[in-house]
Amino acid sequence: MILDIENLRVSINAKGTRTPVLRGAHLQLEQGKILGLVGESGGGKTMVCKAILGVLPESARIESGAIRFEGRDLLAMPARERRGLLGRSIAMILQNPMTALNPVFRIEDQMTDVLRLHAGLDRAQARARALEMLTAVHIREPERVLRHYPHELSGGMCQRVVISIAFSCSPRLIIADEPTTALDVTVQHQILRLIRELQRKTGTSVLFITHDLGVVAKICDSVSVIYAGRILESGPVERIFSSQHHPYTQALLDAAPRYDRPDTALHPVSPELREQLAREAEEFDRRVDREVAHA
Ligand SMILES: Nc1ncnc2c1ncn2[C@@H]1O[C@H](COP(=O)(O)OP(=O)(O)O)[C@@H](O)[C@H]1O
Ligand SMILES: [Mg+2]
Repeated sequence: MILDIENLRVSINAKGTRTPVLRGAHLQLEQGKILGLVGESGGGKTMVCKAILGVLPESARIESGAIRFEGRDLLAMPARERRGLLGRSIAMILQNPMTALNPVFRIEDQMTDVLRLHAGLDRAQARARALEMLTAVHIREPERVLRHYPHELSGGMCQRVVISIAFSCSPRLIIADEPTTALDVTVQHQILRLIRELQRKTGTSVLFITHDLGVVAKICDSVSVIYAGRILESGPVERIFSSQHHPYTQALLDAAPRYDRPDTALHPVSPELREQLAREAEEFDRRVDREVAHA
C-alpha cells in the first residue's frame, strides 16, 4: 500500500463556525495502481489532495486521522522531512496547466529548475532530460517548445509539459486533481491516454481525482466515491461498473454523458438521495461530537 488514508477528519472555520469538510475519509492506493477519487464538485476531493500535500488553507484544521505514505504517517512527520517529499517522491498535476506553470519563465527554465533541484542534475544534464521527457509526452518539436513561454502554447500542450514535469523526477506517487477538466474533449482523451501510458511505463502510483465516472472507467484500477467528505463506496473499477453499488454511485453513472444517447445526458442525483446523504453526514457529525465530549 503506497497511500493509506484512515479516518481523516478536516474542518474549516468560516465566520467563526467550524464546518466539517472531510468526515472520516479513508482511501487505499496500492503500489503501481491508479485509484480514482470521484464525486461532484464540493465533495471534498481537493481537500483530500491538499491534506496529503500539507497545503490546507489556514482556516482548515485536521481533527483526526492518518495519511500513511509508504507506511509512514505524513501528519506525524517533521515538517522539513515532509516538504522534502514534495516534488521528489510525490508530484502533482493540477486542473489548470496555465496556473501550474509560471507565466514569466520559459518552459526550459521551469523544467530544468525542477530537475536540478530534485534530481541533482547539472544544467546540461537537466536540458537533455527535459528533451527526453517532452519526447515521452509525444511533443514533436521539443527543442522549440523549450524556448516558449506557457502562454505561447495551447492548454493541451501545457498539460503535456506539466505531466512531463510531474514524471520527470520519477516520483513514487502522483496526485492528479481533475487534470483534464479544463481541456477540450478530444484533448482530454489524449491526456488520459498519456497519463495511463506513462503510469504503466514507470510503475508510478496515481491518485486520480475527477467528477466523471466515465474518466474513471478509462484509466483507473480502483475507485472511491466521495460525497460531503464521506467515502460512500470503494472497490475495483469492474465491480463499480457491474452490479451492486451505492445509490449515489448509480446516480453518477446515470449522469455520465451517454455518447450513444446524448439526449438522456443528465439524470441528477435525486433530492431524496441528497437529503438522505445530508442526514447521514449530520449523524456522523453528532456521533463525533458525542465521542469528543466523552473523551
Ligand atoms: N478555502 C476554503 N474555505 C472555506 N471552505 C472551503 C475552502 N475550500 C473548500 N471549501 C469547502 O470545502 C468543501 C470541499 O471542497 P473541495 O475539496 O474543493 O471539493 P471538490 O474538490 O470535491 O470540488 C466544499 O464544501 C467547499 O465549499
Ligand atoms: Mg476540486
